[in-house]
Amino acid sequence: MASTEAINVQRLDAFTTQAQAQLQQLVEDSHWNQLAADWALFFSLGTLYVVRDGGGVIVGSGAVLPMGSSLGDAAPVSWISMILVSPKQRGHGLGRAVFGRCLAQVTAEGRIPMLDATPEGEALYVQFGFEPTWGFTRWRRPPRERVMAHCPAEDSTEHLLQLDSEALGFDRRVLLSGIASRVGSRCVHHADASALLRQGRTAVHIGPMHATEEADGAALLHAVAAAVSDVLVVDVPKGRCLMEAALKADGFTPERSFVRMVLSKGLKLPPTKTEIVQAVAGPEYA
Ligand SMILES: CC(C)(COP(=O)(O)OP(=O)(O)OC[C@H]1O[C@@H](n2cnc3c(N)ncnc32)[C@H](O)[C@@H]1OP(=O)(O)O)[C@@H](O)C(=O)NCCC(=O)NCCS
Repeated sequence: MASTEAINVQRLDAFTTQAQAQLQQLVEDSHWNQLAADWALFFSLGTLYVVRDGGGVIVGSGAVLPMGSSLGDAAPVSWISMILVSPKQRGHGLGRAVFGRCLAQVTAEGRIPMLDATPEGEALYVQFGFEPTWGFTRWRRPPRERVMAHCPAEDSTEHLLQLDSEALGFDRRVLLSGIASRVGSRCVHHADASALLRQGRTAVHIGPMHATEEADGAALLHAVAAAVSDVLVVDVPKGRCLMEAALKADGFTPERSFVRMVLSKGLKLPPTKTEIVQAVAGPEYA
């Protein structure tokens, strides 16, 4: 275990063009899908922590994003994400240090820390007492030369937002509205299924997608895949047979696994209806 005592984790106070470029370099180095607009959202709605090298360049990051109020008398949740370390600096305790700082903020605020972990991240988070809840798989589809159909009708986000708070047990209205209002984002629907599409660095991200009937989610996924020529990614909870059949039929292949983790420490967890979730918003957004 690397010592983290000498590592200086700083709260990012100014979202300068330079900081934005250095943070985005971390995303590119890890082949993740976020855009500068995502960092801007973390900065405006939450807190960013960074570690810099001797020359002042950001080589490690972490984000804390407070979710809106939880349903009933459950404790509020904060999402921890963007735990990224520059490949050349890995293995020296930077990841542990920046994650520890994010966690300290969430704990001090009396909120429940939650996150979606990659396998590398999971090994770190269990050491802080985080426990796995459920998992999902990232699927990717290569680009298509031409599309055969129109995208399903654009919808207001209202139905999606209603299903979203029912599914997760907390309110993400501000966050999802921020993503939905970006250039290139759109909300699509089919029957009872509703989903958000947003531009990413390497692919268009489908999610969150919610539906009370999985079959409606699978039909919406199929319609989006038929209408969008760009590379697509979608994060689907494990065990969704109809969704997985639609993914395979539409040329998606599984890329990596994530596990949703929580450290409740006796706080009351929000009530969830995870069966409504057909695709998550992404590991960085819950
Ligand atoms: C995960 C990551 C942030 C760790 O950063 P780091 O600075 O190398 O981590 P640390 O040196 O602080 O090590 C902390 C712990 O992480 C885990 N870890 C780090 N690299 C790992 C790897 N390649 N495989 C498995 N576990 C790993 C270990 O549990 C390690 O604890 P140990 O030192 O007691 O063995 C870094 O590897 C990274 O940026 N990976 C790509 C992005 C990613 O997956 N981020 C996590 C998102 S959930």
